[in-house]
Amino acid sequence: MKVVVLTGAGISAESGVPTFRDADGLWEGHRVEDVATPEAFLADPETVHRFYDARRAALTKVLPNAAHHALAELERLIGDHLTLVTQNIDDLHERAGSERVIHMHGELRSALCLRCGRRTRWEGSLLDAPPCAGCGKGVLRPDVVWFGEVPYAMEAIGDALAECDLFVSVGTSGAVYPAASFVQQARAYGARTLELNLVPSVGTHFFHEARHGRAGDLVPAWVSRLIGQ
Ligand code: APR
Repeated sequence: MKVVVLTGAGISAESGVPTFRDADGLWEGHRVEDVATPEAFLADPETVHRFYDARRAALTKVLPNAAHHALAELERLIGDHLTLVTQNIDDLHERAGSERVIHMHGELRSALCLRCGRRTRWEGSLLDAPPCAGCGKGVLRPDVVWFGEVPYAMEAIGDALAECDLFVSVGTSGAVYPAASFVQQARAYGARTLELNLVPSVGTHFFHEARHGRAGDLVPAWVSRLIGQ
């Protein structure tokens, strides 16, 4: 059985990484759109760098939770029959042991050269970043996909959605496209679809089945049942 799992901010919530659209919808006083657009970066790169620098630094204080670990275990058991796609820019899936994660919205621990397009692993601040190590000249930006930009790996994701038997969405509000449309794509190709989220997502009615609760409870329970334990 081929499985595609899409994860969102909700899977990292129990690790202490704040989600985007709960509470007051603000991130350290900013509207997400004001620090997550190419226009914002052009207008005020310092604010954008400070925003992502703080989030990158915060990664050192969080750990993967039971939901990340359960998905890593699933990968160990079914290998490339699992396609794990995340909208998250944290690295908690990798730190739980997942080896083939598609980061469709990029990664906090990566920098992107505006000139040559090289992606470089990046742990520290980008505020006073040196020029790109690849071309020696380019300005570095956070390697994250902003509103209005095209997500990474859309072709590979489309292929996986077309081929899968089961599509599972974990911890995402369903407010941001194209990820929000994956359920409809998978269904159109005949997959069964399951939502695991704290509350019903915007598109909860698109799923065959929805279970509501904490990812740290729902995901390990779902994985155990799938692998017959
Ligand atoms: N377990 C399961 N789900 C949870 C938990 C939890 N412990 N805590 C919160 N949630 C749910 C919320 O109820 C919400 O539906 O996770 C969802 C998080 O939604 P968002 O904050 O909108 O995050 P996400 O869907 O990942 O956002 C998509 O939007 O801002 C952009 O690029 C950013 O990748 C992000 C994209």
